[in-house]
Amino acid sequence: MRLTYFGHSAFQLDDGENTVLIDPFISGNDLTNQDPSALSPGSILLTHAHDDHVGDTVAIATRCGAAVVATFELANWAGSQGVSDVRPGNHGGTVAFPGGTAKFTPAWHTSSRSDWSAPGVPAGLVVRFGGKTIYFAGDTALFGDMALIADEGLDVAVLPIGDTFTMGPIDAARAVRMLRVPVVIPCHYNTFPPIRQDPESFRTTVETDSASRCLVLAPDETTGF
Ligand code: NI
Ligand code: MN
Repeated sequence: MRLTYFGHSAFQLDDGENTVLIDPFISGNDLTNQDPSALSPGSILLTHAHDDHVGDTVAIATRCGAAVVATFELANWAGSQGVSDVRPGNHGGTVAFPGGTAKFTPAWHTSSRSDWSAPGVPAGLVVRFGGKTIYFAGDTALFGDMALIADEGLDVAVLPIGDTFTMGPIDAARAVRMLRVPVVIPCHYNTFPPIRQDPESFRTTVETDSASRCLVLAPDETTGF
């Protein structure tokens, strides 16, 4: 299974047969050189409605017919924008997409569009795909029930470290200890001035305080699991 980081919270998973985008904020994301019109995933998974997560979802999904998986109101909002295959779920529920499943977890954050409509609630996603279980925390504060998410048997956790709008590096390192996860990937940093962070210092903290390995990916870098 290959994982590509486009910077911010945008990722692609590829198992050789199916391709999945998570929070595909590509246009307007200065960290990536990726051309969004070159992406043709089978599915797009969204954590919440903020534009730095929905990003290019509607343009990509209406062009290539990708299934859009999101919380109930956000999935149906995507449907109202012309996306034909929407797969709504909600916290605690699991939704299937081509090649895998996504289980919605809570996330402490907000969820709104630039017109101040607020489709859906924010979520994290436990994604089972390509033989691996990956927790995308989405935008969230630290919360104690991450200890329950550890019981999902995670292979990888993708955590925001930017601070200001989500947990910062100190709380993210506490999350790593609760999640008991072999590999952690930091995200949601260095896109905008209020979320500037040093991921190498986060890596040192994680690898000193826990048994987890911290993988700092450069934008547009691909790694294998
Ligand atoms: Ni957000
Ligand atoms: Mn965000």
